[in-house]
Amino acid sequence: MYPIDLLPSPGHFVSDILSLVRSLQASRRVTPDAQPSPADFDVNIVTNTGFLPPSPLPNLQKPYDIWEDALAEAQRVLKLGENLPETHTEERAAGELWRERIRSMPVLETDSLLADSQLLRRAHQVVAFLVHFYVHSIPPDTVSESIVVPRPLVAPLMAVSQALGIAPVVTFADVVLWNWELVDPELPVNMENMRFGRHLFSGTEAERNFYHGSARTELVGVEILNIINEYHSLPNVTEISSIFRINKLLERLSLAIEGINTSIQAMRDEVDPQVFFWEARPWWNGSASGSFAPAWIYEGVADSSKLDLCGPSAGQSSVMHALDLFLDIDHKLQQRRYPAPSQSNKKADHGFMERMRRYMPGKHRAYLESIARSPRPLRSVAQETPVVREYYNAAVGTLKKLRDLHMRVACLYVVTMSRGKPPPGCPMAAVMRRMEREAARQGPVTGTGGNELSLLLKAGRDATTRAFLTTN
Ligand code: HEM
Repeated sequence: MYPIDLLPSPGHFVSDILSLVRSLQASRRVTPDAQPSPADFDVNIVTNTGFLPPSPLPNLQKPYDIWEDALAEAQRVLKLGENLPETHTEERAAGELWRERIRSMPVLETDSLLADSQLLRRAHQVVAFLVHFYVHSIPPDTVSESIVVPRPLVAPLMAVSQALGIAPVVTFADVVLWNWELVDPELPVNMENMRFGRHLFSGTEAERNFYHGSARTELVGVEILNIINEYHSLPNVTEISSIFRINKLLERLSLAIEGINTSIQAMRDEVDPQVFFWEARPWWNGSASGSFAPAWIYEGVADSSKLDLCGPSAGQSSVMHALDLFLDIDHKLQQRRYPAPSQSNKKADHGFMERMRRYMPGKHRAYLESIARSPRPLRSVAQETPVVREYYNAAVGTLKKLRDLHMRVACLYVVTMSRGKPPPGCPMAAVMRRMEREAARQGPVTGTGGNELSLLLKAGRDATTRAFLTTN
């Protein structure tokens, strides 16, 4: 195809050619060889699974099968402690028996897992699930100030977390990226042949569908990783042929973001908000999820308050972070951009996104850092290359629309539900406790009290708007 066919619109033809010539003079030349390959970061472009591993996690074998067995039993017998009033003596006793067995388990060494990343992931997943089952199955009326998580869970979890570079708690990776199996192991890995929610806390369809929808969004996002990769593989960002290819990549990027939008939109039909809020979400809370919740003490760790123990959030989705970094969305309000941050933007938690990266596997975090350090930052290229700006702005506009939609979804699933009625059968004491806890939330990390949540999400949306470049 002749390059002129790729220009934006005939009406702008002359000015576009002039600006193209200007930008060719202004742009810097950067060679592509500075970018390492995505495979170096456990980012699976070739298998099209992105941040999901290319195959499901295997079960752990002896002696670690005791963790597998404990998890299977937890899923069968444990209930949320706050849903167990004193009259439910049998269920309370079953929970206490399970916890007692956990306390008396041997403290296993994990050295033999270190050489195999799939086994490390599986160990993290299983033990982190056990930690959340342990804590949240305790009836709150039996807890004074803090909950001690016992050494047989803490010691291996700390060791495998360190090896993976991930937080020692349930993360987005545990519940979404690693939480699937193949329907037919003989057939290839693709959405149709994957069953999500291999492990569930609440056992509800809402929980499974939340994991499923989030994983689908990650897989839709693989196209974004392809685009980032192709961008960094261009021979330069100055020659006319490269500039046309950048614009094509940005068109594809807008479409990919729309794909994510569609996937999140679909979750509104797939995930029941009441069940999500009242039955699934409480299991995900980590330590320090609000002043009302007891802190977790990791037995044998010098100062548990220094650990990252906030629990999972879709804010830990590496695809979304990759997109933000590629487009240079300034969540931390460090750049002078227009319009200036509002008072409410200034009050929001600017460190949230950066903190969420500590909950990702270390290699994924390193991948994101490599995008942040790109020798040819896309926004600067668009700034210096007028014909790219329109395409860059279109992608930013699509991301802003995505954040608008996401705000509405989060508001419906969290803010509205926290003010509404629980499902029938939910004990009144649990309702009261949940209300008090929501009211006492300190911050948005897992807290998401209504006010902090809207501040956080609006600040993210406004930071996105601030990435727009002027086009004159
Ligand atoms: C029913 C669906 C969803 C609900 C109810 C929801 C809810 C929330 C909530 C409450 C937060 C605030 C932080 C927290 O408490 O964890 C949040 C943040 C976030 N979520 Fe979601 N979420 C949903 C789906 C998704 C999906 C599928 C993704 C993408 C994979 C996503 C990406 C994010 C990101 C990146 C943030 C950080 C804030 C931002 O970038 O604006 N969410 N979400």
